[in-house]
Amino acid sequence: MQSVGFIGWRGMVGSVLIDRMRRENDFQGFEPVFFTTSQAGQAGPDVGGGASPLRDANDVRALAEMDILVSCQGGDYTKEMHPKLRAAGWRGYWIDAASALRMKEDAVIVLDPVNRKQIEQALNKGLRDFVGGNCTVSLMLMGMQGLFDAGLVEWVSSMTYQSASGAGAKNMKELVAQMGGLADAGRALAEDPASQVLELDRIISAKLNDGSLPTDAFGAPLAANLIPWIDSAMEDGRTREEWKGMVETNKILGTATPIPVDGQCVRVGAMRCHSQALTVKLTRDVPLAEVEALIAGANDWVKLVPNEKAATLAGLTPAAVSGGLDIPVGRLRKMALGGEYLTAFTVGDQLLWGAAEPVRRMLLIVLGRL
Ligand code: HSE
Repeated sequence: MQSVGFIGWRGMVGSVLIDRMRRENDFQGFEPVFFTTSQAGQAGPDVGGGASPLRDANDVRALAEMDILVSCQGGDYTKEMHPKLRAAGWRGYWIDAASALRMKEDAVIVLDPVNRKQIEQALNKGLRDFVGGNCTVSLMLMGMQGLFDAGLVEWVSSMTYQSASGAGAKNMKELVAQMGGLADAGRALAEDPASQVLELDRIISAKLNDGSLPTDAFGAPLAANLIPWIDSAMEDGRTREEWKGMVETNKILGTATPIPVDGQCVRVGAMRCHSQALTVKLTRDVPLAEVEALIAGANDWVKLVPNEKAATLAGLTPAAVSGGLDIPVGRLRKMALGGEYLTAFTVGDQLLWGAAEPVRRMLLIVLGRL
């Protein structure tokens, strides 16, 4: 029986992964072993076969006993331990949610509904490092797969509306604490029908700018605000998040000639769903009905939302999508720019298809169960 070591299973992405695996009855047919960077020896979680003691995630020999390692521990851990394991001769499968190895030549970015073929080729070639993609990239590809598969995409501009979860668990808490601070400051005036709205606005603006809201995680208020900067600066003016859009999309698709992907990545006050407003330059003027059919038929999760207000409010918002695997695509229409210019809006759960689900499915693929 194959052994699978889980590292970082208590963090946000790791918890979502373990929860999904429990719900889908995945914990069978292999031996799960839970690792910890700080609490070796303590009781691990019971995923069906009783709880076993946690093993030390810094112990290369213990890790090397595993046939497969699944890490949600983050990039620093990967950078530290992965080279040591490989240097020690470990030949197991490393399945990772962090970005550290993504662009390495012998690592595969996994999003199997989109690139199962590349995954199979890599497995056949004996590659052993499989990494989940950047969340915005994975969510965009799940939504637009039909157009990419049909060779209809000349370029994409993606303007993102990224949730707090993409920045981390602390950031989600900070967002809600900021909301609480603003609500406390404005409650009396907001609830008084006779109050002056400009007075309410003055109080909220003052609160946003007086330094009293918690901003350790984001560096600025996100509640009642937005932050048009995600990750670090690249030399050409893009942020690293914007840079990932093009390199990861093309790596996942295995394009011979790179398809340009660019846009601005913006953090907004959603909890765990990333949204994107897309401009797609089509390679030719295809009727909208054909575009809709291609998008809707590409995979089991993409859902077409009619370009109507009621349907949009009901199904094309972070709140509607949160906690689910659906990838709604709506606001779909040809633009006034010309028949080859398509616009669409798409939303997806950043922790599911954006992080844990491709990793979970890759584990099932390696185990021969998907
Ligand atoms: N980098 C993404 C974000 C999340 O900051 O939203 C992970 O892909």
